[in-house]
Amino acid sequence: MIEVRELRREFKVATSKGLRRRYKTVTAVDDVTFGVEAGEAVGYVGPNGAGKSTTIKMLTGILVPTSGHVRVNGVDPSRQRRDLARRIGVVFGQRSQLWWDLPLRDSFDLLRSIYRVPAADHRDRLDECVELLGLRGFLATPVRQLSLGQRMRGEITAALLHAPELLVLDEPTIGLDLESKERLREFLADINARRGTTLLLTTHDLDDIERLCPRLMVIDHGRVLADGPLDELRAEVTPERELVIDLREPGPPPDVPGVTAVRSEANGLRHHLTFRRVETTAAQLITRVVSRVEVHDLAVVEPQIDDVIRKLYQRQAGQARASVES
Ligand SMILES: Nc1ncnc2c1ncn2[C@@H]1O[C@H](COP(=O)(O)OP(=O)(O)OP(=O)(O)O)[C@@H](O)[C@H]1O
Ligand SMILES: [Mg+2]
Repeated sequence: MIEVRELRREFKVATSKGLRRRYKTVTAVDDVTFGVEAGEAVGYVGPNGAGKSTTIKMLTGILVPTSGHVRVNGVDPSRQRRDLARRIGVVFGQRSQLWWDLPLRDSFDLLRSIYRVPAADHRDRLDECVELLGLRGFLATPVRQLSLGQRMRGEITAALLHAPELLVLDEPTIGLDLESKERLREFLADINARRGTTLLLTTHDLDDIERLCPRLMVIDHGRVLADGPLDELRAEVTPERELVIDLREPGPPPDVPGVTAVRSEANGLRHHLTFRRVETTAAQLITRVVSRVEVHDLAVVEPQIDDVIRKLYQRQAGQARASVES
């Protein structure tokens, strides 16, 4: 569905303050290579300025690459932008594709004529979105009067009316409240599972990834730092897992091979233990622990996704320093 090789985009930016203009080149996307298969749901994350939106703009034909190869659904996005528009849906959380002064429903009608969608298909797809995204109450409201969350639901509907095989979303949940976010995630997960619509989304909300994307791509300074299933990345960067136990009676942490006691709380009632995931399974460990002490309750804590990503950034920063020093 998406094929990207050595994709690069530079920007010339003015740096002068005085009379003489000087320019420097900013490399927003630095020879990025990846592929996305039909039906996948991929999360594209990275800090501000990492190059996410620039990548998305090249994939959707809004920006021309400086160099490299990009094909989306077999099409060169910047050369065949109209062709591509018929086959993909795009949502930018910070921009609108709706007509500001018209009722929401009229924007959908206009899109139907632009994409020449047969009336019956249009009705079916619109009905489905109205139902699943709860649009009924504000179809007659001018877009400018919609709340952010209402408008985003409208944007996603607009992007799906021509039944694209690929939906690209740049920060679709930005600024939404918890319930609206959850509703949107559920909807996207559903169209990915049921219709097989491929999803590529950027986000700063890692719950989006946890909920929606089996595959995570992490980018920083225009380079891909990691690409793979969330669980594998987690195991790779955080080899230790944590076991938290609550004892029946206060006491020292159990002395179990393969386990390090890192911290105690509640006067020795609670202990935090860590163990390496390659050496022991949680089940083996729990068996050993309960044979030594009387346990009231316990929990295995996986590192949070933001810890995983922070570690990936740190690792990258460490490697960059090492290569400068050597
Ligand atoms: N039109 C432009 N002209 C000059 N520089 C640009 C332009 N667009 C992006 N950049 C620069 O390219 C880099 C990557 O920007 P990009 O918008 O792709 O980041 P991002 O990962 O989407 O960040 P954010 O999380 O803040 O949305 C930044 O350094 C940015 O300043
Ligand atoms: Mg961006």
